[in-house]
Amino acid sequence: LAAEEFQRRLLTWFDQYGRHDLPWQSPRSAYRVWVSEIMLQQTQVTTVIPYFERFMARFPTLEVLANAPQDDVLHLWTGLGYYARARNLHKAAQMALASHGGELPTDSVESLMALPGIGRSTAGAIIAQSSGQQAAILDGNVKRSLTRLHAIAGWPGKPAVERSLWALAEYYTPDTRLADYTQAIMDFGATLCKRSKPDCLICPFNDVCCAYAQGEPQRFPESKPK
Ligand code: ADE
Repeated sequence: LAAEEFQRRLLTWFDQYGRHDLPWQSPRSAYRVWVSEIMLQQTQVTTVIPYFERFMARFPTLEVLANAPQDDVLHLWTGLGYYARARNLHKAAQMALASHGGELPTDSVESLMALPGIGRSTAGAIIAQSSGQQAAILDGNVKRSLTRLHAIAGWPGKPAVERSLWALAEYYTPDTRLADYTQAIMDFGATLCKRSKPDCLICPFNDVCCAYAQGEPQRFPESKPK
């Protein structure tokens, strides 16, 4: 599928069915997008929203977060789980305050990845949504959608498979509407191309999806071999 056609279909779907009222979408800032992406790493959107709102009320800027006691940060994280995320967030805020003057370094994926808790996909998600620079993402939802569209065999955690998925993710990433595209591809995987019972009948890609053509889209992605 030509990248332009993929983008056109995905953004048309997003304009109608995507999420447009998430609290980190407006006002949009690198700080707010970063906190949301860390919370969303292991937690669903509906659970994250009230935590995000309380977090922003207490820590409205990166500087306030960096200067707060770690216990306060952990306290607001209570119930979200995976507490290393909160400790990394706090540590990263202190590092950004010390070396980047209180701003997150959104000039490149590499400088974001130097901060604790930010991997390649999270770095791409932050850059694309907050600065509009071209950056690809590849979280679990995107991996699932791309392995189905292309009927990619093998466990996506396998380095060779992961490399092909990153190449596809980059190929499809547009150079305009980066924030919308990034939210769109995550919403698409989370709400339409779901792990079980994907909504193939209303999918804008069902005429070109290799997994759908093979008849069993939920066979993809393959699971980790034992
Ligand atoms: N998972 C990670 N980031 C997300 C986002 N911005 N929206 C929905 N799911 C996500």
